[in-house]
Amino acid sequence: MLFLDCTHWTPALREGSFVLSMKQEMNTKQVVAVIGASGKMGSALAKTLSKGNYRILLHSSKTNAVQSLLHEIKNNYSSADIEIVEDYVEIGWEADAVILAVPYAAEKGVAEKIRSVVNQKVIISISNPLNDLYHGLLTSPGISAAEELQKQLPNTKVIKAFNTVFANDFYQPVVHDQKLDCFIAGNDEDALELVYDLVKTAGFHPILAGDLSMSRTLESMQLMLIQLTMQNNYNGSAGWKILHN
Ligand SMILES: NC(=O)c1ccc[n+]([C@@H]2O[C@H](COP(=O)([O-])OP(=O)(O)OC[C@H]3O[C@@H](n4cnc5c(N)ncnc54)[C@H](OP(=O)(O)O)[C@@H]3O)[C@@H](O)[C@H]2O)c1
Repeated sequence: MLFLDCTHWTPALREGSFVLSMKQEMNTKQVVAVIGASGKMGSALAKTLSKGNYRILLHSSKTNAVQSLLHEIKNNYSSADIEIVEDYVEIGWEADAVILAVPYAAEKGVAEKIRSVVNQKVIISISNPLNDLYHGLLTSPGISAAEELQKQLPNTKVIKAFNTVFANDFYQPVVHDQKLDCFIAGNDEDALELVYDLVKTAGFHPILAGDLSMSRTLESMQLMLIQLTMQNNYNGSAGWKILHN
């Protein structure tokens, strides 16, 4: 059980959290949308989450690519509850959680397209706002991509997750017999719980890192890991692991 200070929440936020936690308690299948499903992260997330007890909705601008992804997933997991939804409003409307598996530069545009239908929903920010040369962040000091998204969609529950793992890691989230850590940051207890389960389903070891402002650190951590990966040729399958007693 997580404990968060929710004294500053609006009545609408409290009500949305209540609906989400009722759904979690009643064990109703939760609906997770992946926007940018044809991409490296989008397809990896779609494949791995299809193994869990979720209904998965895929959105992509590439019809052929997303259809072959759907085909591959259904072939591999016959029980997968998954479909393609072409309309942003429909996908946002049906989903409990929306994963924005798109580049940082595209996040605001996509957020605007779903804005009217995602009040009280969980929005998962996986982006790393890297500049073209991968030597710095595009965000201003003192704010993360996830916090920008929260400002743009104030009545949603933005959670930062999956940005500190590589798309390649999804195929084998274990390095030297250690399950890779995957950090999660956010302000809403029920949303954190939902994302914690998604991370576990994906095969990573979830770590709750703090409130949404911790996204600044998580996005900087991945900037460093990407730079080190390029310098040391980690083959894009490196990851974070906290070793402790
Ligand atoms: N690659 C990694 O290892 C990794 C790791 C951690 C986090 N991330 C983050 O994950 C996000 C996706 O990265 P990726 O490597 O998967 O990129 P990618 O392979 O280039 O895929 C991104 C997808 O986003 C969609 N997209 C692109 N431009 C768009 C636009 N203007 N509007 C709407 N959708 C658009 C496209 O999907 P459709 O054609 O299907 O619509 C595209 O395939 C990024 O924010 C990145 O920082 C990546």
